[in-house]
Amino acid sequence: MPEPAQEQAPAELEIGKEYPPPGEDIATTQLRQLHLKVHHVQPGANRRGEHPKGHGGVWATFRVERDIPPGLRVGLFKEPRSFTALVRYSNGRTADDRMPDVHGMAVKVLIPRDGNTPLQQDFIMADHVIFFAKNVQHILEFLVATAGGTPASQLAITTHPALIGYTNKAQSSPLALSYWSQTPYLAGEGAVKYFAMPSPDQERLPVPLADSPDCLKEAMIEQLTARKLCAKFDFCVNPQTDAAVMPVEDPTIEWKSAPVKVATISIYPQKFDSPEQVTFVENLTWSPWDGLPEHRPLGGINRARQLVYQDSQELRHQTNAVTIGPITGREWF
Ligand code: HEM
Repeated sequence: MPEPAQEQAPAELEIGKEYPPPGEDIATTQLRQLHLKVHHVQPGANRRGEHPKGHGGVWATFRVERDIPPGLRVGLFKEPRSFTALVRYSNGRTADDRMPDVHGMAVKVLIPRDGNTPLQQDFIMADHVIFFAKNVQHILEFLVATAGGTPASQLAITTHPALIGYTNKAQSSPLALSYWSQTPYLAGEGAVKYFAMPSPDQERLPVPLADSPDCLKEAMIEQLTARKLCAKFDFCVNPQTDAAVMPVEDPTIEWKSAPVKVATISIYPQKFDSPEQVTFVENLTWSPWDGLPEHRPLGGINRARQLVYQDSQELRHQTNAVTIGPITGREWF
């Protein structure tokens, strides 16, 4: 079968442009098949194919900054205003929070529309600056090497040599970690990577982690429900200022441009662990592709995620026999 035509990277790379490598579509098809297979053999295909353990889904305010530089004033960041957001914290793979792992922060911003249910803008981040796989072929090879399907091989993923240095033993509450998008996104004429870090100007009483497999959820409950303390994050971007030094197609390379703060995420005190709320959040979906065209995901890893996330979401919704309606922002349980 002839390979689909692919663009070759020109000698001069351009800001905000994508350069899919040859063979990516084939690798993506294999990645989708393998991901579904691995997902099926996990105990219960009713959970996410990655990041199955959520620590909590919490309601927040997403406030866009004033004085954002003109080039970044697009889409969600066009004008200073506040939105309702829902944030899910998760482990990459492990059920025991004391193990080293990747930790996720998935933000869903609800954009109101007159007479309609809100639009959604998702930002998906993890607690490491860069991703461990360069491209789709690389992540496929990693998954082939670790796709044994047994609990031991699932665990082996978090300790696999390719992941050394990419997984961390959480030293503090998910509300006190920093998170990066690792992969790039369109921003007007250019591209950016996102990150969220705990705002330096907030009251920070450290919440010690208990010696418990659920210590991360427990630390969130301690802060938000028991002590009733808000958690604030500065939401920032690193713009792509040099297309060769900050490539769109290789998320193993950090973009070290000067960061620009574009929003504040404020998670207010709340109770978030009722069984109904947990079920509501666990049934929801976050995807890099759920958002405004102005913030379209860029690069091969993001292109592959569009289909892999869709597969995982469809599979768990079928298995759980749930249909997800539009979110209004008034879902408190
Ligand atoms: C090709 C590479 C990747 C694959 C195959 C992959 C796969 C997946 C899958 C299947 C899910 C579950 C989707 C669902 O059922 O809702 C997921 C969720 C997630 N992924 Fe990825 N992922 C990739 C790259 C990344 C990257 C680069 C990041 C870093 C930011 C990331 C962070 C997350 C997080 C935080 C979640 C949980 C989202 C939530 O809370 O709903 N993933 N991933």
